[in-house]
Parts: sequence; C-alpha cells; structure tokens
Amino acid sequence: GNNSVNAKLVLLGDMGAGKSSLVIRFVRGQFLEFQESTIGAAFFAQTLAVGDTTVKFEIWDTAGQERYHSLAPMYYRGAAAAIVVFDITSSESFEKAKKWVQELQKQGNPNMVTALAGNKCDLEDKRKVEVEEARTYAEENGLFFLETSAKTAINVNDIFYEIARRLPQA
Ligand code: GTP
Ligand code: MG
Repeated sequence: GNNSVNAKLVLLGDMGAGKSSLVIRFVRGQFLEFQESTIGAAFFAQTLAVGDTTVKFEIWDTAGQERYHSLAPMYYRGAAAAIVVFDITSSESFEKAKKWVQELQKQGNPNMVTALAGNKCDLEDKRKVEVEEARTYAEENGLFFLETSAKTAINVNDIFYEIARRLPQA
C-alpha cells in the first residue's frame, strides 16, 4: 500500500568537506562555489519515493568547525540515518570522518543506517584518499560507501536513495 515514513538524517564531517553542498544539491538542485560555512546546524526537508513508500527526510546539516562538536549529539541522537562526509582531496578530512564513525558507533542509535561519502570526486587530480582505502574502511565498519560530487551531482541523489532503501520501514 501507500505508506509514508519520517526519517531523521544527520550529516557529520570535517569543515569544508561539503555537507551543506550535498544537502543543497539534493534538496534544491543547486551548487555554490562559495558555500558559507555552517553555524550551529541547518535544517532541511525533502521527500523521496522508494517503491510504495514515501520517505520524508528531516535533514540536520551540522557544522564541521571544532567549536560546534559538542552540539552534534543533539542532532545524531534519535537519527535513523547518518551521512559521514569527507573530502577525497584531504587525508585529514578522512581521519576526521573515522572519528565521527567511532563516535556514532559508541553513542548513536545502533540501528542507524550510515553512509560514508567521499565528496569532491570531481577533483580527481587532487585526490589524497584512494577509493580502495575508503571502501575497505567502510566494509570493515558496516557502512555503505559512495564517492559523490555536489558540484557535478554525481551520486548525490543515489546516496539519499540508498539510505531510504535501507531504512527498516521502507
Ligand atoms: P562546514 O559547514 O564548515 O562544516 O562545511 P561543509 O562540510 O558544509 O562544506 P561546504 O558545503 O560549505 O563546502 C565547502 C567548500 O567546498 C565550498 O566552497 C563548496 O563550494 C566546495 N565543495 C563542496 N562540495 C564540492 C564538490 O563536490 N566539488 C567541489 N569541487 N567543490 C565542492
Ligand atoms: Mg556546512
């Protein structure tokens, strides 16, 4: 039948990794070269049809700057899904992503559907994190992994769609 589910989703990751850009690409179909750094967190809503189910995403786009770290639990607590974002041109952002995964594994909802996004895959010539390295890490930690580009839109809808598909109710 036709059913509808609400799903709280949180984006976590280093500052500048592209969390806001991914959400704005998904929700508005836009990309800004000079996206402003998020202060605190920003809320977005978007629906996605998966088969007979309409998934209503309630999206919390958190701020990656360290001074906001202590706010994060307010956003991932009770979340059905998380996207941990890193920038493939920054090894530091990949290390930061691993820290977020650890924190979610310790403190998050154990049934959370978690995706790892290697963002900015349009910047292949500046790559610092190999696809294989990230994929192996994701497999070992029960995440699903996609490389994305908020700029070109590669795999952006796909990552949200895959999350929706994996939600227990969907
Ligand atoms: P905070 O809000 O500070 O945590 O950062 P954020 O993770 O939200 O990053 P944001 O979306 O603000 O993007 C940071 C910068 O990277 C911006 O200048 C974006 O235009 C750029 N950017 C984001 N995604 C991509 C991408 O896929 N490709 C390229 N080339 N640039 C990107
Ligand atoms: Mg942001």
